[in-house]
Amino acid sequence: MTAPAYHIAVLGATGAVGRRILAELEKSSLPIGTVHALASARSAGQRLPFQGGYLTVEAASPASFDGIDLVLASAGGSLSKRLAPAAVAAGAVVVDNSSFWRMDDRVPLVVPEVNPAALTAHQGIIANPNCSTIQMVVALAPILEQFGLEQVIVSTYQAASGAGKAAMDEVLAEMQAQLMGEDMHDYAAVLPVKGAAKHYPLAFNLLPQIDVFEAEGYTHEEYKMIHESKKILLGDPDATAVKVTGTAVRVPVMIGHGESVYVDTGNPAVTVAAIRELLATAPGVVVQDDPDQQLYPQPIEAAGERETFVGRIRPDLENPGAFHLWIVADNLVKGAAWNTVQIAEELAARDLVRVPAGSPWRA
Ligand SMILES: NC(=O)c1ccc[n+]([C@@H]2O[C@H](COP(=O)([O-])OP(=O)(O)OC[C@H]3O[C@@H](n4cnc5c(N)ncnc54)[C@H](OP(=O)(O)O)[C@@H]3O)[C@@H](O)[C@H]2O)c1
Repeated sequence: MTAPAYHIAVLGATGAVGRRILAELEKSSLPIGTVHALASARSAGQRLPFQGGYLTVEAASPASFDGIDLVLASAGGSLSKRLAPAAVAAGAVVVDNSSFWRMDDRVPLVVPEVNPAALTAHQGIIANPNCSTIQMVVALAPILEQFGLEQVIVSTYQAASGAGKAAMDEVLAEMQAQLMGEDMHDYAAVLPVKGAAKHYPLAFNLLPQIDVFEAEGYTHEEYKMIHESKKILLGDPDATAVKVTGTAVRVPVMIGHGESVYVDTGNPAVTVAAIRELLATAPGVVVQDDPDQQLYPQPIEAAGERETFVGRIRPDLENPGAFHLWIVADNLVKGAAWNTVQIAEELAARDLVRVPAGSPWRA
């Protein structure tokens, strides 16, 4: 029997993530029938390069999913809220990049190196985790499994592209304005959060606010990292077996998030050499850690790569069993597009590109 060729819709195809989903699809082992590029009505008619030719962008609507097997969505939460159920009702399986479905009990939150088995319970919608969470759990999962994990404290250094194409354009305009002697504040219209009361330049600056503020002074991004990592690693967003906390900061880097991650295994017998050896063979991880050679992960080098890079592995000198890691990945590739296409490949390999009969969104 020949393998099925999937009819795929990329929702948000003109965006920072959507364009890279198309690039990952070009490299993918997925058997592809057709690919439909969907975006807002503003972009309808625009042409996007794909497999040596072009896809013509169509305005997304519930009717866009007729005859589609797989939707790879990156068009924001409000659109995913509305269109993901419509797509499933039309018979398509949706892999969604927005945060809207991630905490829903009916929706698996998947990083293929970590919890691929969660896909077997999907009911039509699968959530792709937050970019900063993905790269952190790729490195933490092997440590949790091999040595145990009591506490994680993360500080992020997140690239402008994490806030989409408009944020990247804004930072470049600010940099240019500053270098030309103009007031770069005039160009701050998106960051730190689109629609917020105040906007600040990211160029030549750091913004310790990613997404809106929530309870206890945490930002929504910080809550995402806490609860998503628990859902992926422990199967429960509110699990208490591992304590997770953090601070999320936007930095004037275009692509590639950095994370300073403090992990306490609670096991004083664990050594740096053991952590390094473990991570050297962990799926999706590349260890770049040689201080003598000044070798450590950098966003500029991780950009465009699918792997998660780990370096600066060193012990807490006063707390045996606890370690510092410096983790870097391309937020648009492993943090979004590749993880999405990787989920699609995993679904296909497990013959799960089908909406189960009991799905709450099935027509
Ligand atoms: N950037 C990252 O690192 C990252 C990582 C993980 C997850 N995500 C998530 O992925 C999603 C997209 O992020 P992004 O960075 O790619 O944003 P983006 O660059 O702003 O792109 C947004 C996309 O959504 C489309 N869109 C907006 N409104 C629409 C509408 N009413 N109907 C149909 N399409 C519409 C846009 O089409 P037009 O061009 O026509 O406006 C564009 O294709 C967000 O939910 C984000 O949180 C982003």
